[in-house]
Amino acid sequence: MEMHGILKTTLFYKIRDLPPLPNAVLKITQLLEDTKSSASDIAELISKDEALSARILKIANSPYFGFPNPICSITHAVAILGFNLLRSVVLGVSALSLLSQEGKKDLLDRQQFWLHSIGTAIGSSLIARETKVPRTEEAFIIGLLHDMGKLILAQLAPMELSLVLERTRKENISIFEAEMKVLGTHHGEIGELAARKWRFPAIVQNAIKLHHRDPFSRGREDLSPYVYAANNLCKQGRIGWAGDYVVSPHLNEALEILGISVSGIEPLISEIKKGAEEVKNLLGIS
Ligand SMILES: [Fe+2]
Ligand SMILES: [Fe+2]
Repeated sequence: MEMHGILKTTLFYKIRDLPPLPNAVLKITQLLEDTKSSASDIAELISKDEALSARILKIANSPYFGFPNPICSITHAVAILGFNLLRSVVLGVSALSLLSQEGKKDLLDRQQFWLHSIGTAIGSSLIARETKVPRTEEAFIIGLLHDMGKLILAQLAPMELSLVLERTRKENISIFEAEMKVLGTHHGEIGELAARKWRFPAIVQNAIKLHHRDPFSRGREDLSPYVYAANNLCKQGRIGWAGDYVVSPHLNEALEILGISVSGIEPLISEIKKGAEEVKNLLGIS
């Protein structure tokens, strides 16, 4: 087996052994998956976990999440977000808090990483709203989660990640390309494996996996093109940093397919930049 074949296999085993999400979170998501559950049972269960409730409300109230009026309580959040979107948010914030613990020797600057993730969340949500396609409510949370595979690499395989980052720097290639060369897999696939293990909704798994694919063909309910575009816009505008600033040569073409003309790019980057600073403060990341 080639070197990267061994690295990839070992890595996939490690992902299988990632810790499960807390029991309380699993109970909440089980209730959310059951169409017979009552909204009040769900709200009661979520409210028992104060930290989780606070995080859900912070995200749902971010000005770019997609709901114009303030969401004041968990009961209100259950009613407004609906079971499906709430499930993505609960799983997303739980996974991110599990993966947020910094390693001893941190390879990714976390502040910059979150700024990139928040920028991508805002961009995905703005572009999705612009295209007026239904079922895009998950764009914000998926943008926030899109690079979680990198956090998994930092936690489970720091040596491999440092090889990847070294290759990125030396060859001036994207982290995605360097991962393919060093590991034979990439953070989209790694993130998807974890998302599958933690039973994220399919729409979230799919967008995490495909966010580096040039979005010229897409199926229904595929949110990866929005994340792809927003991710590249953040790199172009240098909003945060998550390993590289290499922009896809197909970005403009992809944006055009999504209904955004070349003259709309700079204003969009400025809006993301402004929003990312605001949301970063709102979510308490500094
Ligand atoms: Fe990525
Ligand atoms: Fe990214």
